[in-house]
Amino acid sequence: MKLLITGGAGFIGSNFIRHLLASRPDFEILNFDKLTYAGNSENLADLTIDSSYQFVRGDIGDHRTIERLFESNFDAVIHFAAETHVDRSIEDASPFLETNILGTQRLLEAARRFPNLRFIHISTDEVYGSAAPGESFTEESPIDPRSPYAASKASAEHFVRAYANTYGISAVILRCTNNFGPFQFPEKLIPLIISNASENKPIPVYGDGLQERDWLFVTDFCTAIRLAIDTAKPGSLYNVSAGSPQPNLKIVRTILQTLGKSESLIQFVQDRPGHDRRYALDSSKIRRELGWAPAVSFEDGIRRTIEWYQSNSQWLDHARSGEYRTYYERHYDRRSQTLGN
Ligand code: NAD
Ligand code: DAU
Repeated sequence: MKLLITGGAGFIGSNFIRHLLASRPDFEILNFDKLTYAGNSENLADLTIDSSYQFVRGDIGDHRTIERLFESNFDAVIHFAAETHVDRSIEDASPFLETNILGTQRLLEAARRFPNLRFIHISTDEVYGSAAPGESFTEESPIDPRSPYAASKASAEHFVRAYANTYGISAVILRCTNNFGPFQFPEKLIPLIISNASENKPIPVYGDGLQERDWLFVTDFCTAIRLAIDTAKPGSLYNVSAGSPQPNLKIVRTILQTLGKSESLIQFVQDRPGHDRRYALDSSKIRRELGWAPAVSFEDGIRRTIEWYQSNSQWLDHARSGEYRTYYERHYDRRSQTLGN
C-alpha cells in the first residue's frame, strides 16, 4: 500500500509513521508536512529516506502542489496536518481556518479524482464540546464545538462528509481524545509539566485545575488508525478513547510526584477563555466493530512518557530553544525534498 501522510512531522503523525514502519514494512509512506512551528524534523531524525519512507515539505493549502502530489496514485491518505493548539486558536483563529478547513478541502478536491483512495480523517473529541459530569459522548451525540480550534475541526469534518456524499470519496473519520507520549511539543499540558518541573519552573494550571481530559497513550491511537486503514468501512465514524477522564490537577500532581518535585511549583493562573470543562468519549463502537482496545494504562503510559523526556533531554532542549527549526535546513536536500514554490 502506498500512503500519503499529512502532518507526519508532528506529535501523533511522527509516532504513527514509526509505528507503521515497524508493523507494516510492506507500506510505502510519503510524509507531506509544512514544518510549521509544530512540525519537528527531529521527531523523524532516526528514519532513513528510502523506498519505504519519503518526506516532502509543503502546505496542504497550496492546491497546485497538492494536485501534483496526488499524481503519485496513493491507496490511502491519513490526514493529520492541522493547527492544533487551542490557546493559539484563541489568540488568532486565521491559520486554523486556512489549514484545518481550506487545507482539508484542497486535499478532498484532489482526492475526488481517485475513486479507490481511502481518506482517513483525523479528528478530535473537541467537536462534541464539553461533557456533563458522568456523560460520555457517542458517535450519535450532536456536535457543539466551543473553541475556534474545535470549530475549525468540526467544519473540516463537515467537508469530509460532504465530499463523501457528493463525490463518493471513501472517507473514515476518527475522533480521538487527548493523546500523550513521546515527541509531543512542550506547549501541551503533559510535556509542559515535565519540562517546567525538570527546570523547577512554575507549572501554570488554568482556573481551578479540575477540568477533565480522557488521556490516551499515543501508540494506542496509532493502532486504531492502522485498523481503520485496514478494515473500516467507507463512511464510518469512530470515537477513540481510553474512557477514563481525569482532572488536570491530578495529572500535574502525579507527574510532580514521579519526578520527586514539590507541589509548590503549581501556579494557578487565569483560566482559558471558554475552557471546556470535560471531555469524555464512549468508544464501544470501535471496540466492537474493529476489535480495537487500548493496550497501555495511563499509569504505564505516563511513566514511559516521563522516562522518554528524561532520556531525550536534547530533543526537549531543542524544542524549547527553537533549535529544532534549523534541523530540516541542515539535513534535507531542498531540491529533491520540496514540492511547489
Ligand atoms: P501537531 O501540532 O503536533 O502536528 C501538526 C503537524 O501538521 C505539524 O507537523 C505541522 O507542521 C503540520 N502542518 C500544520 N499545518 C500544515 C499545513 N498547512 N500543511 C502541511 N502540514 C501542516 O499535532 P498533533 O497533536 O500530532 O495532532 C495531529 C492531528 O490529530 C490533528 O489533526 C489534531 O487535530 C488531531 N488530534 C490531536 C489530538 C492530540 O491530543 N494531540 C487528539 C485528537 C485529535
Ligand atoms: O481533546 C483532544 C485535543 O487535545 C486535541 O484535539 C488538541 O489538538 C490538543 O491540543 C488537546 O487539546 P487540549 O486543549 O485538551 O490540550 P492542552 O494540552 O492544551 O490542555 C490540556 C488541559 O490542560 C486543558 O484543560 C487546558 C489545561 N492546561 C493546558 C496548558 C497548556 C493548563 O491547565 N495549563 C497549561 O499550561
